[in-house]
Amino acid sequence: MNKPTFLTTGGAGFIGSNFIRFMLSNYKDSIKVINLDSLTYAGNLENLSEIDHLPNYRFIKADICDEQAVDYIFLNNDIDFCVHFAAESHVDRSIKDPSVFVKTNVLGTVNLLNAAKKHWQTGTGFKSGKKFVQVSTDEVYGSLGAEGYFTEKTPLAPHSPYSASKASADMLVQSYFDTYGFPMNITRCSNNYGPFQFPEKLIPLVINNARAGKPLPVYGDGKNVRDWLYVEDHARAIDLVARKGTPGEVYNVGGHNELQNIEIVKIILDSLGSSHDLITYVEDRLGHDRRYAIDASKIKSELGWEPETSFGVGIKRTIEWYLKNNGWLKNAASGDYLKYYERMYGGTNP
Ligand code: NAD
Ligand code: DAU
Repeated sequence: MNKPTFLTTGGAGFIGSNFIRFMLSNYKDSIKVINLDSLTYAGNLENLSEIDHLPNYRFIKADICDEQAVDYIFLNNDIDFCVHFAAESHVDRSIKDPSVFVKTNVLGTVNLLNAAKKHWQTGTGFKSGKKFVQVSTDEVYGSLGAEGYFTEKTPLAPHSPYSASKASADMLVQSYFDTYGFPMNITRCSNNYGPFQFPEKLIPLVINNARAGKPLPVYGDGKNVRDWLYVEDHARAIDLVARKGTPGEVYNVGGHNELQNIEIVKIILDSLGSSHDLITYVEDRLGHDRRYAIDASKIKSELGWEPETSFGVGIKRTIEWYLKNNGWLKNAASGDYLKYYERMYGGTNP
């Protein structure tokens, strides 16, 4: 029997690289993983150095918007699961420059959908055992007040260009199921944290700045709430959804771990033994969503998924990882790994 082949887009980023490591350590050589990534500023092949020698892992540098490249990958590999992480993912960047978010997150997704549809369809439907998983975000639901949770039935109401681009992509993925019967699922997860997160996002940024004795920018009053989930728990949820999720369905994934930003910042400072004087309140993010909180009861009841890592354990592990991997953090913050790509690929796709 052929080994199931996972095409993972955006596998050199934070969650994608954690997912690939999780899959290869769980399933060993009983699966194949292809990592398609264009290596933007957020893609770092160092994230995969533990597994990149494995014979059942392959990296392909390509842009998901490149029709020919994506078609070529589907033509030459019997892809069973397309797990789609590749995206522009940072809200602040989307506020400054929305266009690249629409290009990658919307047009790139449509390009992948078209290739998968073309290569998976038969005369009467789709080959069995195929699945497209759109890795999406709770941000597509908009913002909550002090009470309540996002369920899969909550209407989409995105506020930032980032979340609007993800919501557009989600609707296109859903439309391929509704129109063609295309085998898909969408996962909508809350804020992830853990190793290999690019230090533009709150937790690694705070660790990095606090270590250097630099100010910690806290937007607005610091009381915006996020629901934090350890990245490996997210990887496990995506694997379950890919293999066992009912085609056509959306699954929310969340940590049941709501914290205000200022609480997170203080937890990190206390754990590092750094002074709270570093906390610097700055102008609020435009259109800043106040609160996200996920109702993850559907994935629990249907697929038996629950978070396994408490925030106390996860944040300790995360801080220790960044302290131990200071070289990674320095490289990521300075962009040094990009110089390596310039030497290796000369700025072009192979
Ligand atoms: P990330 O920014 O760390 O990584 C994105 C990866 O996609 C990078 O490796 C980048 O090089 C690649 N990429 C970007 N544009 C590309 C293109 N045009 N072609 C090919 N590759 C491209 O992002 P992340 O935080 O790992 O998020 C991964 C996915 O999970 C995203 O779709 C995001 O919307 C979703 N998500 C993230 C979180 C979170 O807390 N970080 C939570 C829920 C959902
Ligand atoms: O909810 C899931 C989303 O979580 C994902 O879809 C996004 O890809 C991911 O980036 C994340 O979005 P957020 O905007 O919530 O994450 P970020 O780390 O940028 O910010 C977390 C909170 O901290 C948010 O309320 C803004 C605030 N913040 C952020 C930064 C970078 C600060 O106060 N100061 C900062 O310097």
